[in-house]
Amino acid sequence: MKTRIAEVFQKQFGGEGAFFASSGRINLIGEHTDYNGGYVFPGAIDKCLMAEIRLNGTDKVRAFSIDCDDYCEFGLEEADKPAALWARYIFGVCRETRKRGGKVEGFDTVLAGDVPLGAGLSSSAALESTYAFAINELFGNKIGSFELARIGQSTEHNYCGVNCGIMDQFASVHGKKDNLMLLNCKTLEYKYYPFNPVGYKLVLLDSCVKHELASSAYNKRRASCENAAAAIRRRHPEVEFLSDAHRLWLEEVKGEIPAEDFLRAEYVIGELQRVLDVCDALERGDYETVGEMMYQTHFGMSKLYEVSCEELDFLNRLARLHGVTGSRVMGGGFGGCTINLVKEELYDAFIADAKKQFAAKFGHEPKVYDVVISDGARRL
Ligand code: GLA
Repeated sequence: MKTRIAEVFQKQFGGEGAFFASSGRINLIGEHTDYNGGYVFPGAIDKCLMAEIRLNGTDKVRAFSIDCDDYCEFGLEEADKPAALWARYIFGVCRETRKRGGKVEGFDTVLAGDVPLGAGLSSSAALESTYAFAINELFGNKIGSFELARIGQSTEHNYCGVNCGIMDQFASVHGKKDNLMLLNCKTLEYKYYPFNPVGYKLVLLDSCVKHELASSAYNKRRASCENAAAAIRRRHPEVEFLSDAHRLWLEEVKGEIPAEDFLRAEYVIGELQRVLDVCDALERGDYETVGEMMYQTHFGMSKLYEVSCEELDFLNRLARLHGVTGSRVMGGGFGGCTINLVKEELYDAFIADAKKQFAAKFGHEPKVYDVVISDGARRL
């Protein structure tokens, strides 16, 4: 990828720049908990977005995306927002850096990546984090790593219409080889967890389903949670996020909120506890419990949070039939991947059968990605 980027950069702009990269992410457990002030348990993966960048001494950014085969030039004022989504991510990062007092001027850049798009592996966070990190270095800004993640998150909110939590950008910036990260999204404290489940493999099965309306449905889920939290807060003022609420407090407001909001909140409160249970289980090396929690998460995401789909439910059921230790839809949902914790001796048969059965039902095979936990944002 690096060689290809260098060739295109040379052809497009002449000479060479500095290389930066940041990664996609997986999440072991803790889904839709980040914007509810709960825990998440992600890790960066060995699929990244890479960019070559060189300051150009103007007030314009000139960018070429190899994956979109598209060139875009834009200024750095609010009115200069580009129409192409891929360029808007870069623009948003520049604007959000400036809003935080950072210096940003024009640069030339070529980018490419191998994080599958729309698969729930946070290709957009990888893009945002690459530029947030690179701009911080190249312009000598001293913005801390958490704020770099926030720059990516605010880019989603303010320039891409997705009211996301902090998990993806956090994981992309802070990822560390062979480690998952337990992040408390309320206090922003985090801890690295060496993750090497001996005898097991983590594998993703990509349904290749992408839902057009995923971002508006995502925003709607978040609004439901906030509505439930607000109802609970009227009785229990100490509740800032759903993560502060007891299950019984949710029951108290059952008649006061739409049934749909109740189900969403019910899922979240269950999921908050499951992350903690998974941490305890991991410390004991008890992967059976980890896996069982993953299945429970899938059930909740499918039936209560309603962010799964037929294809993902199919893959989840198949995992169960094969005796796979844990399996669930990963990330925001509405398509994308299942994450599977599989005993090594079951791996080959499970993958072969998943491909065959899925293709027989849906007309194409799922894509298979073995997970390798890797570093996050970096200069190459
Ligand atoms: C998307 C969002 C994250 C998080 C997950 C669900 O990936 O970007 O902030 O909410 O969905 O856990």
